Amino acid sequence: MQTSRRQFLAGSLSVMGASLYAPSIFSTQWSPRLLTSRDAEVRALLARLTLDEKIGQMTQADQMYLESLDDLQKYHLGSLLNGGDSDPKTGNDFQSWRDMYDHYQARAVATDPRIPLIYGVDAVHGHNNVIGATVFPHNIGLGCTRNAELVEKAARITAKEIRATGINWAFAPCVTVPQDIRWGRTYEGFSESPDVVKTLGEAAVRGLQGAALDNPLSVVACAKHFAGDGGTVFGTGLQRGKGAEHFPLDQGDTRLSDADFRRIHLQGYITTVAAGVATVMPSYSSWNGVKCSANRVLLTEFLKGELGFQGFLISDYAAQKELPGNAKQQIETTINAGMDMVMVPDNYREFIALLKELVNERRAPMSRINDAVTRILRVKFAMGLMDPKRSQLADHGLRNTFGSPDHRAVARQAVRESLVVLKNDGTILPLAKNARLHVAGKCADDIGNQCGGWTVKWQGESGNVTTGTTILTAIRKAVGSDAQVTYSRDGSGAQGASVGIAVIGETPYAEMMGDRTDLNLAAEDVAAVDNLKRAGIPVVVVLVSGRPLVIDDVLPKAGAVVAAWLPGTEGDGVADVLFGAFKPTGKLSFTWPRGSSTSFNLEDPGYQPLFEFGYGLSY
Ligand code: GLC
Repeated sequence: MQTSRRQFLAGSLSVMGASLYAPSIFSTQWSPRLLTSRDAEVRALLARLTLDEKIGQMTQADQMYLESLDDLQKYHLGSLLNGGDSDPKTGNDFQSWRDMYDHYQARAVATDPRIPLIYGVDAVHGHNNVIGATVFPHNIGLGCTRNAELVEKAARITAKEIRATGINWAFAPCVTVPQDIRWGRTYEGFSESPDVVKTLGEAAVRGLQGAALDNPLSVVACAKHFAGDGGTVFGTGLQRGKGAEHFPLDQGDTRLSDADFRRIHLQGYITTVAAGVATVMPSYSSWNGVKCSANRVLLTEFLKGELGFQGFLISDYAAQKELPGNAKQQIETTINAGMDMVMVPDNYREFIALLKELVNERRAPMSRINDAVTRILRVKFAMGLMDPKRSQLADHGLRNTFGSPDHRAVARQAVRESLVVLKNDGTILPLAKNARLHVAGKCADDIGNQCGGWTVKWQGESGNVTTGTTILTAIRKAVGSDAQVTYSRDGSGAQGASVGIAVIGETPYAEMMGDRTDLNLAAEDVAAVDNLKRAGIPVVVVLVSGRPLVIDDVLPKAGAVVAAWLPGTEGDGVADVLFGAFKPTGKLSFTWPRGSSTSFNLEDPGYQPLFEFGYGLSY
């Protein structure tokens, strides 16, 4: 169904007129207006730039593809990023990240036209690429807190830890509204509910950008993926190569009427733009068959026109290559649709040469180039990058805040409030501290599983990947005596214990690699529960997962079931709930399906809930 410009925009206005612009409950005074407050200086600088320098500002390269430091100057690159698995050459430790940033920024500010880099990274649940960072619960857990102020606080801490490495831009928050939990990016979403997403997405932007974008502890935020990334139809997802790997949902097609698309998938953009988000990332996915990266109605007429978005659009990673046509036609399409900066990210030389040809052939109007560069420079001025009196290198005074106990205490609170108690027969919870406990499961003593994807590595990884407290360690600390707590991955040897705890769920994944057709628990997880059961003791199941899973098999065997989602580094927050130091308050932000569902897409008639959206028990 084709969206006529007039129909779509008219609808947007009516939707926007409603309570969607509910006045913010936040104290900070940031507003979109501030992004244009330096426009006089922006215009003056724009007038001095050559076409090559303008196109350079529109070009973002992944630092791992930078042929030489000289290319920063030679091609006037405006931005760099570390994409998934694009690590500093010397490793993923703090020092390597900070040295890497300073290495590139020092060169950028030293060469004409002396426009510093806006430098981006996927800090989506803390500064998660860097070993030692405070890693917060992924958004699916934060969604269950329904606590906007806590989300803002977590984002503020994340911004500080990002700035400690010098980097000044986070590709967050993801304001997706996942409708089919078989999607591998479900956990990047706060909720299936646009109301939860719009409120928490705004909170995250305020935390990341702070009261003023030029605060040295602020970073530029990026609302993503615009739009409808979480609404794709099962089976329309990414096909890699002819008949090769097929991912059923990721980067697929969202087929909705204008009204439903707006109602479900645009709310997070309405609130984050109103909150002054400085960048937005269009989605790989399509809406009614049109790729978002090529959709002028969405990118220009809705977002920049009707919503009055003043910042700039950054493409997703090489998203232009998924458009029809050859490389030159792909660039022509996405730039003319309204893309302002292209995350190329590899062949930046070809991108620059082709865009220059398009301008010289009048296939990309100079007015479009000037609009894109104006938007990019607007953000750079607003974030203080153009302040000649300010160093643009990392502030080494922030080192001690990185992964600090204070930061981890806030992450622990986020874990406590994210847990959802789904079952608690006979009040098996809270556990007594003098109980003899046997702990089982692949996720009990595994910080990598606890953190999930987008942690140190793009896909994340099981094992001792970063600094933190595993759930098993947290249980031992809570009980205060190691002797009382025994562990076996498969649940064997539980005889003699008074309670068994099975910490089971998913191993890490990201993006399309997380698409699943089967949401049943792994056989080893069911076996661990069965082994505990065979010991004749009450069983508590703790689920570490990026989405609701089919738990029909273990539900009757468990006296209690707790959804812990992907809690991150602070496993103590899980023990706080298990032992009652914190009474659970979490409420499901996603409906939990019954195993007999014929579909796991919320909107499908075959979806049968086991627990409703909003469900959650307390003590
Ligand atoms: C990825 C993701 C996006 C991320 C970007 C840069 O493919 O889709 O969320 O910000 O590329 O890593």
